[in-house]
Amino acid sequence: MIKVTNEQIEKQYRIMHAVREQNKKLDTPPKCFIRTFGCQQNEADSEQLRGMAAEMGYLRCDTPEEADLILVNTCAVREHAELRALSVTGQFKKLKEKNPALMIGVCGCMVTQEHRMAQVKKSYPYVDFLIGTGMLYKFPEILADRLSGGRRSFTVDAAEGSVAEGLPIIRESKATTFVSVMYGCNNFCSYCVVPYTRGRERSRERADIIAEVKNVIRNGAKEITLLGQNVNSYSSEGRDFADLVSEICALDGDFILRFMTSHPKDASKKLIDVMAENKKCAKQFHLPLQSGSRRVLEVMNRKYTPESYLSLVSYMREKMPDIAISSDIIVGFPGETEEEFEETLSMLRYVEFDMIFSFIYSPRPLTPAAAMECQIPPEVKSERFDRLLALQNEISLKKNLRLVGGTERVLIEGVSKNSESMLMGRADSNKLVHIPRTTDTEALIGSFADVKITKAETFALFGEIVK
Ligand code: SAH
Ligand code: SF4
Ligand code: F3S
Repeated sequence: MIKVTNEQIEKQYRIMHAVREQNKKLDTPPKCFIRTFGCQQNEADSEQLRGMAAEMGYLRCDTPEEADLILVNTCAVREHAELRALSVTGQFKKLKEKNPALMIGVCGCMVTQEHRMAQVKKSYPYVDFLIGTGMLYKFPEILADRLSGGRRSFTVDAAEGSVAEGLPIIRESKATTFVSVMYGCNNFCSYCVVPYTRGRERSRERADIIAEVKNVIRNGAKEITLLGQNVNSYSSEGRDFADLVSEICALDGDFILRFMTSHPKDASKKLIDVMAENKKCAKQFHLPLQSGSRRVLEVMNRKYTPESYLSLVSYMREKMPDIAISSDIIVGFPGETEEEFEETLSMLRYVEFDMIFSFIYSPRPLTPAAAMECQIPPEVKSERFDRLLALQNEISLKKNLRLVGGTERVLIEGVSKNSESMLMGRADSNKLVHIPRTTDTEALIGSFADVKITKAETFALFGEIVK
C-alpha cells in the first residue's frame, strides 16, 4: 500500500496554514468554487478539496463568477462526462481574462489520462494546475507554488495511487455521509477507464476507517455510505469487507449503513449474511450486472455468468426477502447482437430490479473494447437504450405500487428538488420518498421518520408521516 507519510501530510498542513496567513492580509476572504462530475468517490474527493481550501482560508461560493479559486473535479467514465467537464472549464476563460489573479485547477479522472492532460495543458492555457486522482493531497503545495508565481503544474502520475489520511474534509451533508474504504480498481473490465484513472486497488487501514466513521456518527451522520470501486476487494489486517461492515454495525449510534459498489464476481455469501444479521445495514444491494448475455459478459471481462449472478440474487432474497436490488446496465457493447440484448431484457424481467442505471456504451481510449471491431451504430444503441428504459420503468412502477399502504422508515434529507412544497428522503431501500413540507415535518430534516406510503410513481414514493 502506498500510504502517504505523516511528514508529507504535515508539510501540506504547514503550507495550508501559510496560505491562510497570506489570505488573511486580503481585504475580503477569498472564495472557492468547486464543480464536481462523476461518481460518489469524486464527490468524496471534492469534500476533501473543499476541506483543504477552507483550511487555507477560502470561503465557499456557489457561482464561479464570485470565485478566487475554481476547481473542476472531472470524470472520464463516458465521453459525455468529459465533454461537459471540458465545456465548463472553457467557460472560465472569460473569468480569468477579467481577473488574472483567479486560480483555476482541473483535477480528477479526466486529467489523469495522458491525452487529456496534454489537451488541457495545450488548449486551456488559463488553467493553472492539473492534479491527478492519486495526488489530491498535494493540492495545497501545488496551489501555494502557483500563488507565489510558480509555473503551471501538471501533477497527474497516478498509476499506483496513494492513500492519504488526516486531511481536512468539509462534508456536503452532516446526515448523509460518504466514507471511502478503498481506492482504485484492478478488474480491467474491457470497456472501463477507471483502472487507468484511479490506479491500483488499495485499502485504507481498518483503524483509520473506524475512526472516521465514529467521527461522522458523533457529528450527526444518519446514513453512512462506504465507498470503493469494488468494496469486496477491501482487505486490512487480514479482515475482509464483511468483517468491516460487521464492525461498523456494532458501533453505537442511530444510523443506517450502505455501500457501493459490489462486483458480482466477489460479492460473498458472508457479506450477505452480515447484512441480513445487522439491523443497521440497509436492505439494499447495488450489484451491477452490465449485460444478461454470457458471451458479452465474457468479452467484458466480468468473470461471472448470468447463472452465478442469479444465484447471488436468490441467496440475497432468501436471507432478506424485502431487499431492494439495483444494477448498472450497458447497452450497445461492441458486437452485442439483438438476441444478446434481449437476454439482458430477460434478466430484467426475471430479476425485477427495483432500479437500474443504464448507460449507452461509450468507447474509452486505452480500453480493449474501444479497439474492438463491430462497434454498434449509434441509432441501434439508442433504440436499445429506449427499450431497456421502457421495460425497467414498467418494472420499477410495478414494484413501487406494491409498497402503497405500507410504512417505510425514511431518512428525511431536505426540501425536494422538484417542489418547494415537498420534503424528500430515502427509505431503507434507497427509494426516494416525498412528504408534504410543513413546519412540523421540516423539524424532522436530518432524522428518521416512519412514513405511510400513499402513492407510487416510477421514480418515487409519496407518503405522510405516521404520528
Ligand atoms: N466500479 C463500479 C462502477 C464504476 S463505473 C462497478 O464495477 O460496478 C459505473 C458504471 O458506469 C459501470 O457499472 C458501468 O455500467 C458504466 N460504465 C463504465 N464504463 C462505461 C463505458 N465505457 N460506457 C458506458 N458505460 C460505462
Ligand atoms: Fe470499471 Fe469494472 Fe473496475 Fe467497475 S470493476 S471500476 S466497471 S473496471
Ligand atoms: Fe468517473 Fe472516475 Fe468516478 S471516471 S465514475 S469519477 S471513478
